[in-house]
Amino acid sequence: MSTVLITGATSGIGLQLAKDYLANGDSVVVCGRNPFALQSLVQDQINAEALQFDITNAEATKQALSTMQSQPNVWIFNAGNCEYIEKGEIDSELIKRVFEANFLGLVNSLQASQVHFKPGDQVVVIGSISSEVALPRAEAYGASKAAVSYLARTLQMTLKPKQIDVTVVYPGFVKTPLTDKNTFDMPMIVSAEEASVAIRKGIEKRQAYIYFPTRFTSILRLIGLLPYRWQNALSAKLLKG
Ligand SMILES: NC(=O)c1ccc[n+]([C@@H]2O[C@H](COP(=O)([O-])OP(=O)(O)OC[C@H]3O[C@@H](n4cnc5c(N)ncnc54)[C@H](OP(=O)(O)O)[C@@H]3O)[C@@H](O)[C@H]2O)c1
Repeated sequence: MSTVLITGATSGIGLQLAKDYLANGDSVVVCGRNPFALQSLVQDQINAEALQFDITNAEATKQALSTMQSQPNVWIFNAGNCEYIEKGEIDSELIKRVFEANFLGLVNSLQASQVHFKPGDQVVVIGSISSEVALPRAEAYGASKAAVSYLARTLQMTLKPKQIDVTVVYPGFVKTPLTDKNTFDMPMIVSAEEASVAIRKGIEKRQAYIYFPTRFTSILRLIGLLPYRWQNALSAKLLKG
């Protein structure tokens, strides 16, 4: 049985992962800002601990992790947000918000967690397939996830001597409160339940990379092998609306 820490466990993919790990008899450390969602996850559970903190606040993140009673062996860094740039008009405040949650929030979470890492642990970072190909309106989100992907792939090398495996997850569209805000067509979107199955299977096999849904992420990865100017034409076609 594993002890699994999950950031962003109060909603969407993280919430589903937490429920599924609990149902499987694993222990969880659920993290997020929403106290009610955290409370409802841990109540009546003997193998669940909740840590409430905002990942954009490095000190609060460190403080919360220092109070942790459990000893996770799987660390899923999942918390994040998504905002799109409209009409190509760069909005520095929007880009800061997205990077603070998706990239610096991951950095803060890793910094606060690394003192607890031990040989044999698994670090899992939730990126996005949007980091692999430029997608319309994803100037902020895609760039933040490209930074996440680079950081995680670098960590794969630097944590190896410490016998810690790093898994990078590249999801396509998943139906969650994050994507419920989208007004465009989301091809081959999957449920949070399906996302949780794909992520948990990959973690169990200690895969270095997890891509899902297979068809959508394979199409984008193939597009990513083409010259940039063809990539843009194809990704604009795939994600119109
Ligand atoms: N849904 C998709 O199609 C999709 C595709 C590719 C990648 N992803 C990635 O998957 C991850 C989860 O996304 P989701 O779709 O499940 O989104 P979601 O339903 O909006 O959940 C986001 C989670 O992140 C937490 N979070 C956000 N900002 C935070 C902050 N500043 N401090 C602490 N926790 C914070 C939220 O918790 P609180 O509100 O309680 O803080 C919530 O639990 C994200 O990294 C996202 O980029 C999603």
